[in-house]
Amino acid sequence: MKSFQVRPLAEGDRTWVTSVLNEHWGSARSVSRGRVYQADELPGFIAVIKDKPAGLITYDIDGKECEITTMNSLVEHQGIGSALVDAVKGVALTAKCKRLWLITTNDNTKALRFWQRRGFSLVAIHRNAVAQDRLLKPEIPLIGNNGIPIRDEIELEMVL
Ligand SMILES: CC(C)(COP(=O)(O)OP(=O)(O)OC[C@H]1O[C@@H](n2cnc3c(N)ncnc32)[C@H](O)[C@@H]1OP(=O)(O)O)[C@@H](O)C(=O)NCCC(=O)NCCS
Repeated sequence: MKSFQVRPLAEGDRTWVTSVLNEHWGSARSVSRGRVYQADELPGFIAVIKDKPAGLITYDIDGKECEITTMNSLVEHQGIGSALVDAVKGVALTAKCKRLWLITTNDNTKALRFWQRRGFSLVAIHRNAVAQDRLLKPEIPLIGNNGIPIRDEIELEMVL
């Protein structure tokens, strides 16, 4: 039996959502492909373990495309990340989206592994795009995971 549950975000979760995004991404703003989202106002799913929040995913549906805008597992290697992706995939299929996609950055090797293991393909490297992103979100650090300079947006997709 799974040790966690996944449910859609509710209004009562918003304060928590804002604090998780602030803590993990420097603010609740998310930037991808030159577009800024107020990610704490987007729809999403929360994973909970015994009523305690353990993961968050937010998304945005635009026509036939569904973008995963943020993803955080707070208790890793228990299937929470995978379950959150499945939840968004379900919504995207119901909305008749043809593409589920996301942007990560070149330093996020763990995420690159995670997404590819979950059926996503690398479809583009937007070289030096993060410099433009920083104009919209100055809190993006210069150096990321494992001391790697954060430079490129990497676009991954799953065709639905
Ligand atoms: C990337 C991230 C979302 C993965 O979340 P997660 O909850 O650890 O994901 P899962 O547990 O579903 O999968 C991770 C691994 O644990 C394994 N796993 C799942 N359940 C398990 C269990 N019960 N016991 C042991 N391993 C398990 C999975 O098989 C997977 O391994 P694999 O990559 O070899 O297939 C998480 O590391 C994270 O939040 N990172 C920081 C934020 C981030 O980078 N977000 C993505 C931005 S694009």
